[in-house]
Amino acid sequence: MGLGIAHAFLSAGFDVCITDISSDALKRASAAIEGLLNEGVARGKMEADAAAKAFRRLTAMTDITEGARGAALLVETVVEKLSVKADIVRAADAVLAEDAVIATNTSALSVTAIATAAKRPERVIGMHFFNPVHKMKMVELVLGLATDADTLRRARAYCERIGKVSIVVNETPGLTTSRMSAMLGNEAMYMLQEGAASAEDIDTALRLGFNHPMGPLELGDLTGWDTRLSVLRYLHETLGEKFRPCPLIIKMVAAGRIGRKAGAGVYQYSDGQKVPGSGLRASAI
Ligand SMILES: NC(=O)c1ccc[n+]([C@@H]2O[C@H](COP(=O)([O-])OP(=O)(O)OC[C@H]3O[C@@H](n4cnc5c(N)ncnc54)[C@H](O)[C@@H]3O)[C@@H](O)[C@H]2O)c1
Repeated sequence: MGLGIAHAFLSAGFDVCITDISSDALKRASAAIEGLLNEGVARGKMEADAAAKAFRRLTAMTDITEGARGAALLVETVVEKLSVKADIVRAADAVLAEDAVIATNTSALSVTAIATAAKRPERVIGMHFFNPVHKMKMVELVLGLATDADTLRRARAYCERIGKVSIVVNETPGLTTSRMSAMLGNEAMYMLQEGAASAEDIDTALRLGFNHPMGPLELGDLTGWDTRLSVLRYLHETLGEKFRPCPLIIKMVAAGRIGRKAGAGVYQYSDGQKVPGSGLRASAI
């Protein structure tokens, strides 16, 4: 998600620094961002010169206290764990510009809880982007208990600058989108586990029956079942039994079969492409 968000801001003319604990992740992200910029040129969305300039405005480093120094906006996109997000916000907050907006891309954690790590929680807001960022037009802006009107106004303005439509949501577990999507993905996994239908047919049902652009199992592979499981555990804890994670998701995460990023999830992937007919079968579960 971080690389997609960085690409969106670079394309709109911002200087961007990406930081990550892993230098390998940073190398992969920089290469992917360059690829997305080049794709924009090939599609006629951007001049080659503008794309090259945008890429030159990108810096990458492992030290967040260097990367965030003096920045006007932080968008944190680390793993979906409250303690890790709080550590990142605390470290960045010490070096960001005095009136910086601190945004979290959390799918389901409490913005209010994340904001307690900041010196001024009123500056913290959820900016929930969608995957893949360069194709998805919407950002859910999430108000924590302390988020003030100026922070909302500025976050909205950032969304406009990068060409995204924003909606505003009061903090509730899972917001609007993750809550519905987690429920759908979990139910699809229960159906797969029970052998109600094949993975391919469950996905086709939603794509062609309801006109969803992707089926819930394909979407889970794209999101990552590890992220999905964290979200479901949190929703189960906060909203109750209806969000109990399907045992098959727990089993897949334990096996490292977490989706596209691992080369296998519900489906197998080769060179980033889904292998036809590779969906998990009930008999194998
Ligand atoms: N994947 C999606 O579809 C999606 C959509 C919307 C929001 N989100 C949210 O975005 C966030 C990131 O999700 P993702 O799918 O990009 O995860 P990811 O696992 O692909 O990326 C997380 C990155 O965080 C880095 N990281 C871990 N611990 C760190 C630390 N202590 N300091 C610095 N970096 C650290 C990891 O090296 C990794 O590169 C999560 O909060 C998730 O809920 C994800």
